[in-house]
Amino acid sequence: MILTGSSASLVPLDRRHLTATRAWANDWEIAEFMDRATPVSDAAHERWYEAIENRADCVYFAIEANDESATSQHIGNVWLWDIDTRHRKAEVRIVIGARNLRSQGIGTDALDLVSRYAFRRLNLRRLYAFVLSSNTRAVKAFEKAGFQQEGLLRGDRWSGEQYVDVVSLARMREAERGYIPTAHVRARLGDTIPNHA
Ligand SMILES: CC(C)(COP(=O)(O)OP(=O)(O)OC[C@H]1O[C@@H](n2cnc3c(N)ncnc32)[C@H](O)[C@@H]1OP(=O)(O)O)[C@@H](O)C(=O)NCCC(=O)NCCS
Repeated sequence: MILTGSSASLVPLDRRHLTATRAWANDWEIAEFMDRATPVSDAAHERWYEAIENRADCVYFAIEANDESATSQHIGNVWLWDIDTRHRKAEVRIVIGARNLRSQGIGTDALDLVSRYAFRRLNLRRLYAFVLSSNTRAVKAFEKAGFQQEGLLRGDRWSGEQYVDVVSLARMREAERGYIPTAHVRARLGDTIPNHA
């Protein structure tokens, strides 16, 4: 299954994507954003790949550039994590590993593609993400892809040499039935939430 957007496509994560994926996992700056603190060996990476192949609670996509003149087609990964079929929700995580291709709208494109896949194909209803509050680019990309800020987790992560705040964001499937926002949620998010009661 290939999902094609305006700037990039999502393709199944295959063996050919593993070298770059491991390099990004071991990239210090990316690790900080992704809340990863331990190095990933070749053997551990292989075990991880074998394991996710057999898991039903995550779906991994590689992000490939549509521009065929790009040095490498594989520019990042986006995945659904902790897929919960009872509550029909999942966490969304993303990395654009190629630094020179960041801030060009590709992240937004990939987040929108994976969201539409999750809603339409997996019948999920709520997608959420946790982003370091200092990671303004990521917050903006999620917001452009239809996620709304829901809250701030105070001092949630040890990052660098301090505890930092984390922003929680979510995107709900449109026209979702059976959800009546509480007054608190309405006060926080205003009239942007449709009432599907
Ligand atoms: C976060 C990430 C996925 C976003 O993808 P991207 O392709 O770079 O994002 P987009 O270009 O779609 O959107 C980013 C927006 O933030 C803006 N931006 C970039 N740096 C910014 C900054 N320091 N402050 C405010 N806005 C910033 C961009 O201009 C763009 O907005 P615009 O389209 O209105 O100009 C990507 O940058 C990345 O992988 N970063 C490293 C890993 C990471 O942070 N992952 C997310 C962990 S939750």
